[in-house]
Amino acid sequence: MVNSTEVTPPPTIITIFGATGDLATRKLIPALFDLFQNGYLPFSFKIVGMSRRGFSHEEYRDIAKNSIIERTASQKEDILEEFLSHISYTQGTFDDKESYERLKGVLDHEERLFGQCTNKLFYLAVPPAYYKGIFEQLAASDLSKPCSDETGWTRILVEKPFGNDVSTAQELDQVLGSLFKEEQIFRIDHYLAKEALQDILMFRFSNTLFEPLWNKDYIERVELTLSEKKGVDSRGAFYDGIGALRDVGQNHLLQMLAFIAMEDPIELDALRIRTERARVLESLRPVNSDTAGALLVRGQYEGYKETPSVDAASQTETFFRIKTFIDNDRWQGVPFYLESGKALDEDKTEIKIYFKKTTSCLCPPGTEHHHQNILTFRIQPDEKISILFWAKKPGLSLDLEPKELSFSYRNIPEGSRLADAYEKVLFDGIAGDQILFASTEEVSAAWQFITPILELWENTPLHPYAQGSKGPQVDLSSI
Ligand code: BG6
Repeated sequence: MVNSTEVTPPPTIITIFGATGDLATRKLIPALFDLFQNGYLPFSFKIVGMSRRGFSHEEYRDIAKNSIIERTASQKEDILEEFLSHISYTQGTFDDKESYERLKGVLDHEERLFGQCTNKLFYLAVPPAYYKGIFEQLAASDLSKPCSDETGWTRILVEKPFGNDVSTAQELDQVLGSLFKEEQIFRIDHYLAKEALQDILMFRFSNTLFEPLWNKDYIERVELTLSEKKGVDSRGAFYDGIGALRDVGQNHLLQMLAFIAMEDPIELDALRIRTERARVLESLRPVNSDTAGALLVRGQYEGYKETPSVDAASQTETFFRIKTFIDNDRWQGVPFYLESGKALDEDKTEIKIYFKKTTSCLCPPGTEHHHQNILTFRIQPDEKISILFWAKKPGLSLDLEPKELSFSYRNIPEGSRLADAYEKVLFDGIAGDQILFASTEEVSAAWQFITPILELWENTPLHPYAQGSKGPQVDLSSI
């Protein structure tokens, strides 16, 4: 991870494909503005938006301005205007050669104004169906080439989902790999860029207190949960046929698991960290038709089929629960539960580590209570790390009661703030730090685990569940 104070990059041009879309206006433009107002963008920079619709520079700046006003806190008018003056727009269709010639003209013009070679970042904020065409056109138009081996870089930031299963992901990677070098490719999983998730890595390998216990001898089970209150709403066209497992399981939940279960990378180095994350994903025990019944639950919330653009007979899951194991020395036999759903009773992303119960029991005579410690990483909301432990109840008895030791990110010092995940994605993309981006090996290992489950989905019962509930009440823990 890069220390912000060490980064003083040369002029950088950030091109956003899909500049008028939901991701660009809801997340990217506000994140770029926050980076700008906190002094984290390069001193000289330009943002070029490209999408199908024909807008003038001014019209696009108005779109950008509105998205910033709606989403970011306490912006000052002069800072906002200064930021907007860095933005321009070019109309283009993603598979059309001429659009890229036009874009090249725009970038060459900006470069001439800077009077020097620039770094170029291309952000694909478009539906995955356009990825391949954009990769090919960027290469064909020479936009992917840096000014020279020594000056300027070009990087490409790609959103998930990266492929639809093992074979489509590999196909996409082959195209990408034939046109770009791995150091130019940044596969985004915005969960990796969440502050509290990064802290798992730092916490695990910086505290001697826990690492000796971080294995099958002391840990009974691990639960990873990504629960959302909102349903699919206006995203029916994207979501139906994709489902919860591809949408958040193949990426966000498996990346959380990787941080929890990986071996010590020894150094804060992208290659080492990504290699360890990939290695643990490669050790996930494959699910097959004999084990599926005991390891998989899928569900769909009632009313999902009435969502606009969703098939009235849809069999797409909006909920899954998976019990899995990691076949390596550290974790043999420890169950990991992955669970996610839409339209549930709470918004909560967290990881709970259940330590094994004490073997002896210092309990009042006649009672039996084996005590258990639970370490919780609350990723959002109310980011915190807490430990449940047992202490003597004050008073004359020798009873025990559960207590909590915790650190909350809400108590950070005055003046500091938690950066949004997309700020971190963009900041690291510009800084060239790939630690928080998925490598080709990680993406491939994640699909290797997920694809057989997707193939088994058809024969896995789809349990209906009420909106606002905890999802289907099928317990895998006893199996
Ligand atoms: C996205 C999924 O990747 O992550 C969405 O496509 C999901 O369906 C979202 O709602 C959750 O992200 P966050 O940052 O809002 O927790």
